[in-house]
Amino acid sequence: MDVAFPCRCITFLLICYVTTAIDPRFLIQPDDQRIVLQYGGSPIYVGLDCLADYDMVTMHVYWFKNGVPISVNYLFHEDVGELVDASRYSISGGSFGKYSLQIMTDDDYVTFDTGQYYCSLLYSSNKTVIEKSRTADINIHTSPLCVVDYGTSLYYGNAEGDVGNVDVLEGDVVELSCWSKYIGTPGEDIMVWSGDDVVENITNIPIIDSDDLLISSIVWYPERENHNMTFTCTHRLPGKPNRTCQAGPFNIMYKPSVNVAQLQMQITNYQITLLCNSTGNPSVHEYVWTWDNEVITKNDNFHFENNHTILAIQGLAVENNGPHYVTCTGINDVGNTTSENSTIQVNITFSQTTTVRPLTTEIVTDYSKSTVMVTNQVVHDAIVAPVHDCRIFILGSIIAAIVSFLLVIIVIILTTCLIKKKRQRKSQRKNVGKYPDSKSNEQSPTEQFLLTGKNTDIYSM
Ligand SMILES: *[C@@H]1O[C@H](CO)[C@@H](O)[C@H](O)[C@H]1NC(C)=O
Ligand SMILES: *[C@@H]1O[C@H](CO)[C@@H](O)[C@H](O)[C@H]1NC(C)=O
Ligand SMILES: *[C@@H]1O[C@H](CO)[C@@H](O)[C@H](O)[C@H]1NC(C)=O
Ligand SMILES: *[C@@H]1O[C@H](CO)[C@@H](O)[C@H](O)[C@H]1NC(C)=O
Ligand SMILES: *[C@@H]1O[C@H](CO)[C@@H](O)[C@H](O)[C@H]1NC(C)=O
Ligand SMILES: *[C@@H]1O[C@H](CO)[C@@H](O)[C@H](O)[C@H]1NC(C)=O
Ligand SMILES: *[C@@H]1O[C@H](CO)[C@@H](O)[C@H](O)[C@H]1NC(C)=O
Ligand SMILES: *[C@@H]1O[C@H](CO)[C@@H](O)[C@H](O)[C@H]1NC(C)=O
Ligand SMILES: *[C@@H]1O[C@H](CO)[C@@H](O)[C@H](O)[C@H]1NC(C)=O
Repeated sequence: MDVAFPCRCITFLLICYVTTAIDPRFLIQPDDQRIVLQYGGSPIYVGLDCLADYDMVTMHVYWFKNGVPISVNYLFHEDVGELVDASRYSISGGSFGKYSLQIMTDDDYVTFDTGQYYCSLLYSSNKTVIEKSRTADINIHTSPLCVVDYGTSLYYGNAEGDVGNVDVLEGDVVELSCWSKYIGTPGEDIMVWSGDDVVENITNIPIIDSDDLLISSIVWYPERENHNMTFTCTHRLPGKPNRTCQAGPFNIMYKPSVNVAQLQMQITNYQITLLCNSTGNPSVHEYVWTWDNEVITKNDNFHFENNHTILAIQGLAVENNGPHYVTCTGINDVGNTTSENSTIQVNITFSQTTTVRPLTTEIVTDYSKSTVMVTNQVVHDAIVAPVHDCRIFILGSIIAAIVSFLLVIIVIILTTCLIKKKRQRKSQRKNVGKYPDSKSNEQSPTEQFLLTGKNTDIYSM
Protein backbone atom coordinates (compact mmCIF):
# COMPACT_ATOMS: atom_id res chain seq x y z
CA MET A 1 0.00 0.00 0.00
CA ASP A 2 2.69 2.46 1.03
CA VAL A 3 4.72 1.70 -2.05
CA ALA A 4 1.61 1.71 -4.19
CA PHE A 5 0.46 5.08 -2.91
CA PRO A 6 2.46 7.32 -5.28
CA CYS A 7 1.45 5.09 -8.15
CA ARG A 8 -2.19 5.46 -7.22
CA CYS A 9 -1.75 9.24 -7.16
CA ILE A 10 -0.34 9.09 -10.62
CA THR A 11 -3.17 6.81 -11.67
CA PHE A 12 -5.67 9.23 -10.23
CA LEU A 13 -4.06 12.11 -12.08
CA LEU A 14 -4.07 10.07 -15.25
CA ILE A 15 -7.74 9.29 -14.76
CA CYS A 16 -8.60 12.93 -14.11
CA TYR A 17 -6.63 14.50 -16.83
CA VAL A 18 -5.66 11.95 -19.39
CA THR A 19 -8.60 9.54 -19.22
CA THR A 20 -6.61 6.95 -20.99
CA ALA A 21 -7.05 3.16 -21.11
CA ILE A 22 -6.29 1.33 -17.79
CA ASP A 23 -6.18 -2.43 -17.52
CA PRO A 24 -8.89 -2.94 -14.86
CA ARG A 25 -7.90 -5.45 -12.21
CA PHE A 26 -8.15 -6.28 -8.50
CA LEU A 27 -5.08 -5.71 -6.39
CA ILE A 28 -6.57 -7.05 -3.14
CA GLN A 29 -9.33 -9.65 -3.09
CA PRO A 30 -11.48 -11.05 -0.29
CA ASP A 31 -10.47 -14.26 1.54
CA ASP A 32 -12.49 -17.17 2.87
CA GLN A 33 -13.39 -16.76 6.51
CA ARG A 34 -14.81 -18.91 9.22
CA ILE A 35 -16.27 -16.74 11.90
CA VAL A 36 -17.53 -17.97 15.21
CA LEU A 37 -19.76 -15.87 17.34
CA GLN A 38 -19.48 -16.71 20.97
CA TYR A 39 -22.53 -17.59 23.00
CA GLY A 40 -24.51 -14.72 21.50
CA GLY A 41 -22.44 -12.06 23.16
CA SER A 42 -21.52 -8.81 21.46
CA PRO A 43 -21.82 -8.43 17.67
CA ILE A 44 -18.70 -8.86 15.57
CA TYR A 45 -17.52 -7.21 12.35
CA VAL A 46 -16.73 -9.32 9.36
CA GLY A 47 -14.33 -7.55 7.02
CA LEU A 48 -13.98 -8.33 3.31
CA ASP A 49 -11.19 -6.58 1.42
CA CYS A 50 -11.31 -5.31 -2.14
CA LEU A 51 -8.87 -2.98 -3.90
CA ALA A 52 -9.30 -2.30 -7.60
CA ASP A 53 -7.25 -0.54 -10.25
CA TYR A 54 -9.82 0.80 -12.71
CA ASP A 55 -11.18 3.74 -14.63
CA MET A 56 -13.23 5.59 -12.06
CA VAL A 57 -15.00 7.61 -14.68
CA THR A 58 -16.60 4.83 -16.63
CA MET A 59 -16.60 1.98 -14.10
CA HIS A 60 -18.08 1.15 -10.70
CA VAL A 61 -17.16 -1.39 -8.04
CA TYR A 62 -20.00 -3.61 -6.87
CA TRP A 63 -20.14 -6.13 -4.02
CA PHE A 64 -22.05 -9.30 -4.75
CA LYS A 65 -23.44 -11.74 -2.23
CA ASN A 66 -24.55 -15.12 -3.53
CA GLY A 67 -24.54 -13.64 -7.08
CA VAL A 68 -26.76 -10.68 -6.20
CA PRO A 69 -25.31 -7.11 -6.08
CA ILE A 70 -25.58 -5.43 -2.70
CA SER A 71 -23.54 -2.24 -3.17
CA VAL A 72 -22.30 0.23 -5.78
CA ASN A 73 -19.09 1.98 -4.87
CA TYR A 74 -19.83 3.25 -1.34
CA LEU A 75 -23.55 3.08 -1.52
CA PHE A 76 -26.23 0.56 -0.68
CA HIS A 77 -29.19 1.37 -2.81
CA GLU A 78 -32.57 -0.16 -2.75
CA ASP A 79 -32.30 -0.66 -6.49
CA VAL A 80 -28.89 -2.29 -6.27
CA GLY A 81 -30.33 -5.71 -5.84
CA GLU A 82 -30.75 -7.44 -2.51
CA LEU A 83 -31.99 -5.05 0.10
CA VAL A 84 -29.58 -5.01 2.96
CA ASP A 85 -29.78 -3.21 6.24
CA ALA A 86 -27.37 -0.35 5.63
CA SER A 87 -26.95 0.12 9.36
CA ARG A 88 -25.19 -3.28 9.55
CA TYR A 89 -23.25 -2.92 6.28
CA SER A 90 -20.62 -0.39 5.35
CA ILE A 91 -17.91 0.16 2.79
CA SER A 92 -14.66 1.69 3.95
CA GLY A 93 -11.35 2.51 2.37
CA GLY A 94 -11.77 5.99 0.91
CA SER A 95 -10.51 6.83 -2.53
CA PHE A 96 -8.00 5.11 -4.78
CA GLY A 97 -10.04 2.04 -5.43
CA LYS A 98 -10.41 0.52 -1.95
CA TYR A 99 -13.84 -0.86 -1.24
CA SER A 100 -13.71 -3.01 1.89
CA LEU A 101 -17.04 -4.38 2.93
CA GLN A 102 -17.82 -4.60 6.65
CA ILE A 103 -20.73 -6.53 8.02
CA MET A 104 -21.72 -6.25 11.64
CA THR A 105 -23.25 -9.57 12.46
CA ASP A 106 -24.73 -11.16 15.53
CA ASP A 107 -26.62 -14.22 16.63
CA ASP A 108 -29.75 -13.19 14.74
CA TYR A 109 -28.00 -12.77 11.37
CA VAL A 110 -25.46 -15.60 11.23
CA THR A 111 -27.50 -17.52 8.68
CA PHE A 112 -28.38 -14.43 6.66
CA ASP A 113 -24.79 -13.21 6.50
CA THR A 114 -23.23 -16.57 5.72
CA GLY A 115 -22.58 -16.82 1.99
CA GLN A 116 -20.30 -16.29 -0.99
CA TYR A 117 -19.01 -12.77 -1.52
CA TYR A 118 -17.02 -11.14 -4.33
CA CYS A 119 -16.48 -7.65 -5.67
CA SER A 120 -16.87 -6.82 -9.31
CA LEU A 121 -16.03 -4.05 -11.80
CA LEU A 122 -18.91 -2.97 -14.04
CA TYR A 123 -19.35 -0.33 -16.71
CA SER A 124 -21.47 2.42 -15.17
CA SER A 125 -23.40 2.96 -18.40
CA ASN A 126 -24.63 -0.51 -19.28
CA LYS A 127 -23.67 -2.52 -16.10
CA THR A 128 -21.63 -4.98 -18.07
CA VAL A 129 -19.20 -6.93 -15.87
CA ILE A 130 -15.58 -6.19 -16.70
CA GLU A 131 -13.69 -8.01 -13.95
CA LYS A 132 -14.72 -10.17 -11.04
CA SER A 133 -12.64 -10.80 -7.90
CA ARG A 134 -12.22 -14.23 -6.38
CA THR A 135 -15.18 -15.49 -4.40
CA ALA A 136 -14.80 -15.63 -0.61
CA ASP A 137 -16.68 -18.21 1.43
CA ILE A 138 -17.88 -16.53 4.58
CA ASN A 139 -19.00 -19.03 7.15
CA ILE A 140 -20.49 -17.55 10.28
CA HIS A 141 -21.80 -19.61 13.11
CA THR A 142 -22.32 -19.39 16.81
CA SER A 143 -20.56 -21.42 19.43
CA PRO A 144 -20.86 -21.62 23.14
CA LEU A 145 -17.89 -20.47 25.15
CA CYS A 146 -15.98 -23.10 27.04
CA VAL A 147 -14.21 -22.01 30.21
CA VAL A 148 -11.88 -24.12 32.34
CA ASP A 149 -11.47 -23.17 35.97
CA TYR A 150 -8.40 -24.87 37.38
CA GLY A 151 -6.40 -23.92 40.41
CA THR A 152 -6.12 -20.18 40.44
CA SER A 153 -6.50 -19.84 36.67
CA LEU A 154 -9.46 -19.37 34.38
CA TYR A 155 -8.92 -20.45 30.79
CA TYR A 156 -11.37 -18.86 28.37
CA GLY A 157 -12.16 -20.32 24.99
CA ASN A 158 -10.60 -18.83 21.88
CA ALA A 159 -12.54 -17.20 19.03
CA GLU A 160 -14.20 -20.54 18.37
CA GLY A 161 -15.02 -21.04 22.02
CA ASP A 162 -12.44 -23.79 22.52
CA VAL A 163 -9.91 -24.18 25.31
CA GLY A 164 -6.92 -26.33 24.39
CA ASN A 165 -4.00 -28.08 26.06
CA VAL A 166 -4.46 -27.64 29.77
CA ASP A 167 -2.00 -29.23 32.21
CA VAL A 168 -3.70 -30.57 35.33
CA LEU A 169 -2.62 -32.73 38.22
CA GLU A 170 -4.28 -36.05 38.86
CA GLY A 171 -6.89 -35.83 41.59
CA ASP A 172 -7.18 -32.04 41.48
CA VAL A 173 -10.53 -30.38 40.92
CA VAL A 174 -11.27 -29.06 37.44
CA GLU A 175 -14.45 -27.15 36.72
CA LEU A 176 -15.60 -26.94 33.13
CA SER A 177 -18.23 -24.40 32.13
CA CYS A 178 -20.11 -23.83 28.94
CA TRP A 179 -21.86 -20.55 28.16
CA SER A 180 -24.32 -19.99 25.38
CA LYS A 181 -27.19 -17.73 24.44
CA TYR A 182 -30.64 -18.97 25.28
CA ILE A 183 -32.31 -18.87 21.90
CA GLY A 184 -35.10 -21.38 21.88
CA THR A 185 -38.45 -21.22 23.47
CA PRO A 186 -38.35 -22.22 27.13
CA GLY A 187 -37.31 -25.82 27.56
CA GLU A 188 -36.01 -26.26 24.03
CA ASP A 189 -32.38 -25.46 24.65
CA ILE A 190 -30.37 -28.44 25.85
CA MET A 191 -26.76 -28.39 26.91
CA VAL A 192 -24.83 -31.64 27.09
CA TRP A 193 -21.27 -32.38 28.12
CA SER A 194 -19.48 -35.38 26.68
CA GLY A 195 -15.96 -36.73 26.90
CA ASP A 196 -14.10 -38.63 24.24
CA ASP A 197 -13.26 -41.25 26.81
CA VAL A 198 -15.08 -42.93 29.62
CA VAL A 199 -15.17 -40.56 32.54
CA GLU A 200 -16.33 -42.16 35.72
CA ASN A 201 -16.15 -39.29 38.09
CA ILE A 202 -18.14 -36.38 36.70
CA THR A 203 -20.46 -34.35 38.82
CA ASN A 204 -23.10 -32.54 36.86
CA ILE A 205 -24.35 -29.20 38.04
CA PRO A 206 -27.75 -28.49 36.48
CA ILE A 207 -28.12 -25.93 33.74
CA ILE A 208 -28.63 -22.46 35.09
CA ASP A 209 -30.81 -20.07 33.15
CA SER A 210 -29.84 -16.56 34.14
CA ASP A 211 -31.23 -13.80 31.91
CA ASP A 212 -30.67 -15.06 28.40
CA LEU A 213 -27.58 -17.09 29.20
CA LEU A 214 -27.37 -20.81 29.42
CA ILE A 215 -24.60 -22.07 31.67
CA SER A 216 -23.63 -25.65 32.33
CA SER A 217 -20.77 -26.63 34.57
CA ILE A 218 -19.26 -29.97 35.41
CA VAL A 219 -16.74 -30.82 38.07
CA TRP A 220 -14.12 -33.31 37.08
CA TYR A 221 -11.40 -35.07 39.05
CA PRO A 222 -8.87 -36.07 36.43
CA GLU A 223 -7.32 -39.51 36.63
CA ARG A 224 -4.30 -40.73 34.72
CA GLU A 225 -6.50 -42.99 32.59
CA ASN A 226 -8.20 -39.86 31.25
CA HIS A 227 -4.93 -38.50 29.90
CA ASN A 228 -5.32 -36.46 26.72
CA MET A 229 -9.07 -36.42 26.87
CA THR A 230 -11.21 -33.66 25.41
CA PHE A 231 -14.63 -32.54 26.58
CA THR A 232 -17.29 -31.25 24.25
CA CYS A 233 -20.19 -29.04 25.25
CA THR A 234 -23.10 -29.17 22.84
CA HIS A 235 -25.91 -26.66 22.82
CA ARG A 236 -28.78 -28.32 21.00
CA LEU A 237 -31.84 -26.67 19.58
CA PRO A 238 -34.52 -28.35 17.55
CA GLY A 239 -34.12 -27.61 13.85
CA LYS A 240 -30.88 -25.71 14.25
CA PRO A 241 -27.27 -26.76 13.86
CA ASN A 242 -25.56 -27.95 17.02
CA ARG A 243 -23.39 -25.38 18.69
CA THR A 244 -20.30 -26.85 20.29
CA CYS A 245 -17.16 -25.85 22.10
CA GLN A 246 -14.36 -28.04 23.36
CA ALA A 247 -12.04 -28.12 26.33
CA GLY A 248 -8.87 -30.14 26.06
CA PRO A 249 -6.90 -32.21 25.44
CA PHE A 250 -5.95 -32.31 29.09
CA ASN A 251 -2.45 -33.33 29.98
CA ILE A 252 -2.92 -35.21 33.25
CA MET A 253 0.27 -35.14 35.27
CA TYR A 254 1.05 -37.36 38.21
CA LYS A 255 3.87 -38.37 40.52
CA PRO A 256 5.73 -41.53 39.59
CA SER A 257 4.52 -44.97 40.59
CA VAL A 258 7.57 -47.03 41.36
CA ASN A 259 8.35 -50.65 42.05
CA VAL A 260 11.53 -52.68 42.01
CA ALA A 261 11.57 -55.65 39.70
CA GLN A 262 14.23 -58.31 39.62
CA LEU A 263 15.57 -58.78 36.14
CA GLN A 264 18.31 -61.32 36.54
CA MET A 265 20.33 -63.22 39.07
CA GLN A 266 23.45 -65.22 38.59
CA ILE A 267 24.50 -67.14 41.65
CA THR A 268 27.94 -68.19 40.44
CA ASN A 269 29.26 -64.65 40.56
CA TYR A 270 26.59 -63.34 42.90
CA GLN A 271 25.20 -60.72 40.57
CA ILE A 272 21.69 -59.36 40.88
CA THR A 273 20.14 -56.99 38.40
CA LEU A 274 17.21 -54.88 39.52
CA LEU A 275 14.93 -52.64 37.48
CA CYS A 276 13.34 -49.50 38.81
CA ASN A 277 10.00 -49.93 37.10
CA SER A 278 8.23 -46.60 37.01
CA THR A 279 5.48 -44.68 35.33
CA GLY A 280 4.86 -40.99 35.64
CA ASN A 281 3.70 -38.00 33.64
CA PRO A 282 5.98 -36.31 32.84
CA SER A 283 8.20 -39.37 32.80
CA VAL A 284 10.74 -39.96 35.53
CA HIS A 285 13.91 -38.03 34.87
CA GLU A 286 15.95 -39.14 37.88
CA TYR A 287 16.32 -42.36 39.85
CA VAL A 288 17.84 -42.71 43.30
CA TRP A 289 18.60 -46.14 44.74
CA THR A 290 19.27 -47.03 48.36
CA TRP A 291 20.88 -50.10 49.87
CA ASP A 292 20.24 -50.49 53.60
CA ASN A 293 19.02 -46.88 53.72
CA GLU A 294 22.21 -45.51 52.16
CA VAL A 295 22.03 -43.83 48.76
CA ILE A 296 23.96 -45.98 46.34
CA THR A 297 26.75 -44.43 44.36
CA LYS A 298 28.54 -46.25 41.61
CA ASN A 299 31.39 -48.39 42.94
CA ASP A 300 32.86 -51.86 42.56
CA ASN A 301 29.73 -53.56 43.86
CA PHE A 302 27.06 -51.36 42.33
CA HIS A 303 26.74 -50.07 38.85
CA PHE A 304 23.94 -48.50 36.88
CA GLU A 305 22.61 -48.92 33.38
CA ASN A 306 20.03 -47.12 31.26
CA ASN A 307 20.14 -43.79 33.05
CA HIS A 308 20.03 -45.47 36.47
CA THR A 309 16.86 -47.41 35.72
CA ILE A 310 18.86 -50.61 36.18
CA LEU A 311 21.00 -51.42 39.19
CA ALA A 312 23.48 -54.28 39.02
CA ILE A 313 24.81 -55.57 42.32
CA GLN A 314 27.80 -57.84 42.09
CA GLY A 315 30.56 -59.37 44.14
CA LEU A 316 28.39 -60.45 47.05
CA ALA A 317 30.37 -62.39 49.62
CA VAL A 318 29.77 -64.26 52.85
CA GLU A 319 30.10 -61.06 54.84
CA ASN A 320 27.03 -59.79 53.00
CA ASN A 321 24.91 -62.65 54.37
CA GLY A 322 21.65 -61.54 55.82
CA PRO A 323 18.81 -59.31 54.75
CA HIS A 324 19.42 -56.13 52.80
CA TYR A 325 16.87 -53.52 51.87
CA VAL A 326 16.75 -51.93 48.48
CA THR A 327 14.53 -49.04 47.41
CA CYS A 328 14.29 -46.98 44.28
CA THR A 329 12.97 -43.43 44.13
CA GLY A 330 11.65 -42.04 40.87
CA ILE A 331 11.56 -38.27 40.49
CA ASN A 332 9.60 -36.28 37.93
CA ASP A 333 8.46 -32.67 37.72
CA VAL A 334 5.42 -33.43 39.88
CA GLY A 335 7.22 -35.11 42.76
CA ASN A 336 8.97 -38.25 43.85
CA THR A 337 7.91 -41.70 44.98
CA THR A 338 9.97 -44.30 46.77
CA SER A 339 9.26 -47.95 46.09
CA GLU A 340 8.45 -50.37 48.85
CA ASN A 341 11.42 -51.98 50.55
CA SER A 342 12.66 -54.93 48.53
CA THR A 343 14.46 -57.43 50.67
CA ILE A 344 17.52 -59.18 49.33
CA GLN A 345 18.23 -62.17 51.50
CA VAL A 346 21.83 -63.19 50.95
CA ASN A 347 22.81 -66.62 52.25
CA ILE A 348 26.15 -67.71 50.96
CA THR A 349 27.08 -71.00 52.60
CA PHE A 350 30.43 -72.67 53.03
CA SER A 351 31.41 -76.28 53.54
CA GLN A 352 34.54 -76.59 55.62
CA THR A 353 37.03 -79.32 55.05
CA THR A 354 39.79 -79.54 57.59
CA THR A 355 42.90 -81.39 56.68
CA VAL A 356 45.03 -83.12 59.27
CA ARG A 357 47.98 -80.97 58.43
CA PRO A 358 48.28 -78.80 61.49
CA LEU A 359 47.59 -75.09 61.14
CA THR A 360 46.11 -75.47 57.65
CA THR A 361 42.40 -75.12 57.12
CA GLU A 362 40.96 -74.99 53.65
CA ILE A 363 37.53 -73.52 53.15
CA VAL A 364 35.62 -74.58 50.13
CA THR A 365 32.69 -72.55 48.96
CA ASP A 366 29.72 -74.72 48.27
CA TYR A 367 27.78 -72.61 45.77
CA SER A 368 24.92 -75.02 45.42
CA LYS A 369 23.66 -74.26 48.89
CA SER A 370 23.98 -70.49 48.63
CA THR A 371 20.92 -68.41 48.00
CA VAL A 372 20.16 -64.85 47.22
CA MET A 373 16.52 -64.08 47.61
CA VAL A 374 14.88 -60.93 46.49
CA THR A 375 11.48 -60.25 47.90
CA ASN A 376 9.27 -57.28 47.64
CA GLN A 377 7.34 -56.92 50.81
CA VAL A 378 4.15 -57.73 49.03
CA VAL A 379 5.18 -60.47 46.68
CA HIS A 380 7.41 -63.20 47.99
CA ASP A 381 9.41 -64.44 45.17
CA ALA A 382 12.30 -66.62 46.18
CA ILE A 383 14.70 -67.77 43.58
CA VAL A 384 17.25 -70.49 44.11
CA ALA A 385 19.20 -71.34 41.07
CA PRO A 386 20.90 -74.74 41.10
CA VAL A 387 24.48 -74.45 40.07
CA HIS A 388 26.79 -77.19 38.90
CA ASP A 389 30.24 -75.79 38.99
CA CYS A 390 32.88 -78.19 37.64
CA ARG A 391 35.70 -76.24 39.21
CA ILE A 392 34.29 -76.89 42.66
CA PHE A 393 33.83 -80.59 41.91
CA ILE A 394 37.42 -80.96 40.71
CA LEU A 395 38.78 -78.99 43.65
CA GLY A 396 36.72 -81.14 46.05
CA SER A 397 37.94 -84.35 44.44
CA ILE A 398 41.57 -83.27 44.65
CA ILE A 399 41.20 -82.38 48.31
CA ALA A 400 39.43 -85.67 49.02
CA ALA A 401 42.25 -87.54 47.29
CA ILE A 402 44.90 -85.66 49.30
CA VAL A 403 43.03 -86.30 52.53
CA SER A 404 42.64 -90.01 51.73
CA PHE A 405 46.30 -90.24 50.83
CA LEU A 406 47.33 -88.53 54.06
CA LEU A 407 45.07 -90.81 56.08
CA VAL A 408 46.59 -93.89 54.51
CA ILE A 409 50.08 -92.57 55.26
CA ILE A 410 49.10 -91.86 58.89
CA VAL A 411 47.58 -95.34 59.27
CA ILE A 412 50.72 -96.89 57.90
CA ILE A 413 52.95 -94.79 60.18
CA LEU A 414 50.83 -95.54 63.23
CA THR A 415 50.64 -99.24 62.46
CA THR A 416 54.39 -99.29 62.09
CA CYS A 417 54.78 -97.47 65.39
CA LEU A 418 52.43 -99.90 67.12
CA ILE A 419 54.26 -102.90 65.92
CA LYS A 420 57.53 -101.36 67.05
CA LYS A 421 56.13 -100.57 70.48
CA LYS A 422 54.79 -104.07 70.91
CA ARG A 423 58.17 -105.43 70.16
CA GLN A 424 59.65 -103.00 72.65
CA ARG A 425 57.11 -104.03 75.26
CA LYS A 426 57.82 -107.68 74.74
CA SER A 427 61.46 -106.99 75.30
CA GLN A 428 60.62 -104.84 78.38
CA ARG A 429 58.49 -107.62 79.77
CA LYS A 430 61.32 -109.98 79.41
CA ASN A 431 63.43 -107.55 81.35
CA VAL A 432 60.90 -106.85 84.17
CA GLY A 433 59.31 -110.28 84.08
CA LYS A 434 56.47 -111.92 86.07
CA TYR A 435 53.65 -110.11 84.08
CA PRO A 436 50.70 -112.53 84.11
CA ASP A 437 48.99 -112.08 80.73
CA SER A 438 51.05 -111.64 77.65
CA LYS A 439 48.38 -112.80 75.16
CA SER A 440 46.29 -109.61 75.04
CA ASN A 441 47.35 -106.71 72.80
CA GLU A 442 44.66 -104.53 74.29
CA GLN A 443 45.79 -102.74 77.39
CA SER A 444 44.01 -100.20 79.53
CA PRO A 445 45.66 -96.83 80.19
CA THR A 446 45.88 -97.94 83.84
CA GLU A 447 47.83 -100.93 82.77
CA GLN A 448 49.98 -98.75 80.60
CA PHE A 449 50.53 -96.42 83.53
CA LEU A 450 51.54 -99.44 85.61
CA LEU A 451 53.84 -100.54 82.94
CA THR A 452 55.41 -97.29 81.87
CA GLY A 453 54.92 -95.13 84.89
CA LYS A 454 53.31 -92.52 82.55
CA ASN A 455 49.70 -91.84 81.59
CA THR A 456 49.53 -91.59 77.83
CA ASP A 457 46.95 -92.11 75.12
CA ILE A 458 49.48 -92.44 72.43
CA TYR A 459 48.29 -95.90 71.55
CA SER A 460 44.62 -95.31 71.60
CA MET A 461 43.19 -94.76 68.20
C1 LIG B 1 -20.82 -1.06 -22.15
O1 LIG B 1 -20.27 0.27 -22.20
C2 LIG B 1 -18.88 0.38 -22.47
C3 LIG B 1 -18.47 1.81 -22.48
O2 LIG B 1 -19.10 2.52 -21.50
C4 LIG B 1 -18.56 -0.30 -23.77
O3 LIG B 1 -17.16 -0.26 -23.98
C5 LIG B 1 -19.05 -1.71 -23.79
O4 LIG B 1 -18.82 -2.31 -25.03
C6 LIG B 1 -20.51 -1.79 -23.44
N1 LIG B 1 -20.89 -3.17 -23.36
C7 LIG B 1 -22.02 -3.62 -23.85
C8 LIG B 1 -22.26 -5.07 -23.70
O5 LIG B 1 -22.76 -2.88 -24.38
C1 LIG C 1 -14.73 -37.99 42.74
O1 LIG C 1 -13.37 -37.96 43.17
C2 LIG C 1 -13.15 -37.17 44.33
C3 LIG C 1 -11.65 -37.11 44.58
O2 LIG C 1 -10.97 -38.16 43.96
C4 LIG C 1 -13.91 -37.80 45.51
O3 LIG C 1 -13.72 -37.01 46.63
C5 LIG C 1 -15.38 -37.84 45.14
O4 LIG C 1 -16.08 -38.50 46.15
C6 LIG C 1 -15.59 -38.59 43.83
N1 LIG C 1 -16.98 -38.50 43.44
C7 LIG C 1 -17.66 -39.54 42.99
C8 LIG C 1 -19.08 -39.27 42.64
O5 LIG C 1 -17.17 -40.64 42.87
C1 LIG D 1 -3.35 -36.63 22.40
O1 LIG D 1 -4.36 -36.34 21.47
C2 LIG D 1 -3.89 -35.70 20.29
C3 LIG D 1 -5.08 -35.39 19.43
O2 LIG D 1 -6.12 -34.92 20.21
C4 LIG D 1 -2.93 -36.63 19.58
O3 LIG D 1 -2.40 -35.99 18.46
C5 LIG D 1 -1.80 -37.01 20.52
O4 LIG D 1 -0.96 -37.96 19.91
C6 LIG D 1 -2.36 -37.59 21.80
N1 LIG D 1 -1.26 -37.82 22.71
C7 LIG D 1 -1.20 -38.89 23.51
C8 LIG D 1 -0.02 -38.98 24.40
O5 LIG D 1 -2.07 -39.74 23.51
C1 LIG E 1 -26.46 -32.59 17.67
O1 LIG E 1 -25.69 -33.42 18.57
C2 LIG E 1 -26.38 -34.58 19.01
C3 LIG E 1 -25.49 -35.27 20.00
O2 LIG E 1 -25.16 -34.39 21.03
C4 LIG E 1 -26.70 -35.46 17.82
O3 LIG E 1 -27.41 -36.59 18.26
C5 LIG E 1 -27.53 -34.66 16.83
O4 LIG E 1 -27.74 -35.44 15.68
C6 LIG E 1 -26.82 -33.40 16.45
N1 LIG E 1 -27.68 -32.60 15.61
C7 LIG E 1 -27.27 -31.98 14.51
C8 LIG E 1 -28.27 -31.17 13.78
O5 LIG E 1 -26.10 -32.05 14.12
C1 LIG F 1 6.18 -52.73 36.07
O1 LIG F 1 5.05 -52.39 36.85
C2 LIG F 1 3.83 -52.65 36.20
C3 LIG F 1 2.69 -52.13 37.05
O2 LIG F 1 3.09 -51.73 38.28
C4 LIG F 1 3.70 -54.14 35.95
O3 LIG F 1 2.50 -54.41 35.25
C5 LIG F 1 4.88 -54.60 35.11
O4 LIG F 1 4.81 -55.98 34.95
C6 LIG F 1 6.16 -54.22 35.80
N1 LIG F 1 7.28 -54.60 34.95
C7 LIG F 1 8.25 -55.42 35.35
C8 LIG F 1 9.36 -55.65 34.38
O5 LIG F 1 8.21 -55.93 36.44
C1 LIG G 1 19.08 -41.10 29.19
O1 LIG G 1 18.47 -39.83 29.35
C2 LIG G 1 18.75 -38.93 28.30
C3 LIG G 1 18.14 -37.58 28.63
O2 LIG G 1 17.00 -37.70 29.43
C4 LIG G 1 18.21 -39.48 26.99
O3 LIG G 1 18.52 -38.62 25.93
C5 LIG G 1 18.81 -40.84 26.73
O4 LIG G 1 18.23 -41.41 25.58
C6 LIG G 1 18.58 -41.75 27.91
N1 LIG G 1 19.27 -43.01 27.68
C7 LIG G 1 18.71 -44.19 27.90
C8 LIG G 1 19.58 -45.37 27.63
O5 LIG G 1 17.56 -44.30 28.32
C1 LIG H 1 10.70 -35.99 47.52
O1 LIG H 1 9.55 -35.22 47.85
C2 LIG H 1 9.56 -34.69 49.14
C3 LIG H 1 8.27 -33.94 49.34
O2 LIG H 1 7.20 -34.73 48.96
C4 LIG H 1 10.75 -33.77 49.33
O3 LIG H 1 10.79 -33.32 50.66
C5 LIG H 1 12.02 -34.52 49.03
O4 LIG H 1 13.12 -33.66 49.07
C6 LIG H 1 11.94 -35.14 47.64
N1 LIG H 1 13.11 -35.95 47.43
C7 LIG H 1 13.83 -35.86 46.32
C8 LIG H 1 15.00 -36.78 46.24
O5 LIG H 1 13.55 -35.08 45.43
C1 LIG I 1 13.26 -50.74 54.88
O1 LIG I 1 13.49 -51.64 55.90
C2 LIG I 1 14.54 -51.22 56.80
C3 LIG I 1 14.76 -52.33 57.80
O2 LIG I 1 13.54 -52.82 58.30
C4 LIG I 1 14.12 -49.95 57.50
O3 LIG I 1 15.17 -49.50 58.32
C5 LIG I 1 13.82 -48.91 56.46
O4 LIG I 1 13.32 -47.74 57.06
C6 LIG I 1 12.81 -49.43 55.46
N1 LIG I 1 12.66 -48.44 54.43
C7 LIG I 1 11.50 -48.16 53.87
C8 LIG I 1 11.52 -47.15 52.77
O5 LIG I 1 10.45 -48.72 54.19
C1 LIG J 1 21.25 -70.47 54.67
O1 LIG J 1 21.33 -71.66 53.95
C2 LIG J 1 21.54 -72.83 54.80
C3 LIG J 1 21.75 -74.02 53.90
O2 LIG J 1 20.92 -74.00 52.77
C4 LIG J 1 20.37 -73.01 55.72
O3 LIG J 1 20.57 -74.10 56.55
C5 LIG J 1 20.21 -71.75 56.53
O4 LIG J 1 19.05 -71.85 57.34
C6 LIG J 1 20.10 -70.53 55.65
N1 LIG J 1 20.09 -69.36 56.48
C7 LIG J 1 19.20 -68.39 56.31
C8 LIG J 1 19.34 -67.23 57.25
O5 LIG J 1 18.35 -68.46 55.45
